[in-house]
Amino acid sequence: MDASDKTVTSHAPGPSPTGGHPPETPQATGTGRERGTLGTDRDHLPELLEATRAYAARLLAGLGDRAAARTPVRPAPASLPEAGVGLRGALEEFARRWEPGFAAGAGPRYLGFVTGGVTPAALAGDWLTGTLDQNPTSGLDSLAPDLERETVGWLRDLFGLPPEHEGAFVSGATLSNLTGLAIAREWLGERRGVSVAEEGVAVLGPVTVLSGSPHSSTVKSLSMLGLGRSALRRVSLLPGREAVDVARLAEELDRLDGAPAIVVANSGTVNTVDFDDLRAIAALREHHPFWLHVDAAFGAFAALSPEHAHLVAGLGEADSVCVDLHKWLNVPYDSAVQFTRRRDLQIRVFQNSAAYLTPVGDVPDLVHLTPENSRRLRALAAWFTLAAYGREGHAEIVRHDIALAAALGERIAAMPAYRLLAPVRLNVVCFTLASSPTTAGIAEVAEAITESGEAFLTPTVHEGVPALRAAFSNWRTTESDVDRIAKLLQEVVNRA
Ligand SMILES: Cc1ncc(COP(=O)(O)O)c(C=O)c1O
Repeated sequence: MDASDKTVTSHAPGPSPTGGHPPETPQATGTGRERGTLGTDRDHLPELLEATRAYAARLLAGLGDRAAARTPVRPAPASLPEAGVGLRGALEEFARRWEPGFAAGAGPRYLGFVTGGVTPAALAGDWLTGTLDQNPTSGLDSLAPDLERETVGWLRDLFGLPPEHEGAFVSGATLSNLTGLAIAREWLGERRGVSVAEEGVAVLGPVTVLSGSPHSSTVKSLSMLGLGRSALRRVSLLPGREAVDVARLAEELDRLDGAPAIVVANSGTVNTVDFDDLRAIAALREHHPFWLHVDAAFGAFAALSPEHAHLVAGLGEADSVCVDLHKWLNVPYDSAVQFTRRRDLQIRVFQNSAAYLTPVGDVPDLVHLTPENSRRLRALAAWFTLAAYGREGHAEIVRHDIALAAALGERIAAMPAYRLLAPVRLNVVCFTLASSPTTAGIAEVAEAITESGEAFLTPTVHEGVPALRAAFSNWRTTESDVDRIAKLLQEVVNRA
């Protein structure tokens, strides 16, 4: 049976948004446009928001018991409502048809991909983002862009970047990589005396992008930017590592014979959280012209742990830096920041001129900095969590998650059924079955974990070996969660 054929016949007894009472029948309380469900909702907004808040609170209270992941079972299709059922009815319908199939992605044992949770202050900031619904794209009407600038400044401090690095919010690390590489593309044009922004990417001719273990979003960005996926040349890695061999990188640059290139360095690879030697790479610029972009989507947070900060030493020397915030800052999706030292080039790429917008001045409006024009004030959730917990609070989340990853790594290393594929350098445990791991064997373990509802881990392939990853980046995860996961891993392998 195809998944789309499945329908929900029963649902878990989740919290009812209206306490089990039937939704209020919409009433016509006014005239003209005040009639109908919208007018009723407007008249009852405080109670409706209170009901929504109470429902959200119950969902959060049950996060630890909710299945970490769900195999999708789709509800019966519903057609577009004509009149609509009002907010209370919509809450009931969501709770009945959709919420039972939603995973505890923000919960403590969701260790798939690299997934953060949501701190209380970040959640409040996110709610207020929708409440105030500011469009920070221009500074004509509101202080909202200034709040974003302040937040970017705080983040720059948090990651120890120098003041030359200016930044802006984007929706995720993919867009942050795209933006950094778009600025890099303009820099290549500058070196060749042309402007890609004005003349198009064809004026550049062939472009070389060098990287050791780039994230797939870098490859996607090269496609989106018209540079082409084949512009990427993968540089040899250090033996048994995902970090680039800097001597090989220097040789590749030598071969370019002085032609400018882009180097994408990686601070925190997805499988084994390996780090390129940023200082050594940056030093190569003495002899070779290249733009240094660093994908530090979650690795940048190593700067918050004194024992691990050396892993990102030299980050400030990059020309552009990508950091995701919906990962280890524990703000809700979608949020990331991009930094660059060359705001002038950034503006050349992204400036958006229109008679009704402000021209690019000394303090450019945000519309001139990233692919988006109108957008939500996604800085507000980050501002709230930084204001509420500060550098110390966020450093504590990072240190705690690192310790939990190390603890799970030790537990797995002690289990005869499994073996670690790399030392636990930061917050990800990459491991496999001890004897003859196959794709099917790993899929079986991953499915058994998912089916249990206890935890969610994602399968991967590391150096050709099918494997599993457990990524810790949620502030809610505790030692007892590590216990539960370790027991679960033993159980599923006993059953196999
Ligand atoms: C190193 C790295 N770069 C980029 C990304 C892309 O992030 P996003 O999915 O938020 O765009 C990820 C996501 O896991 C990542 O780990």
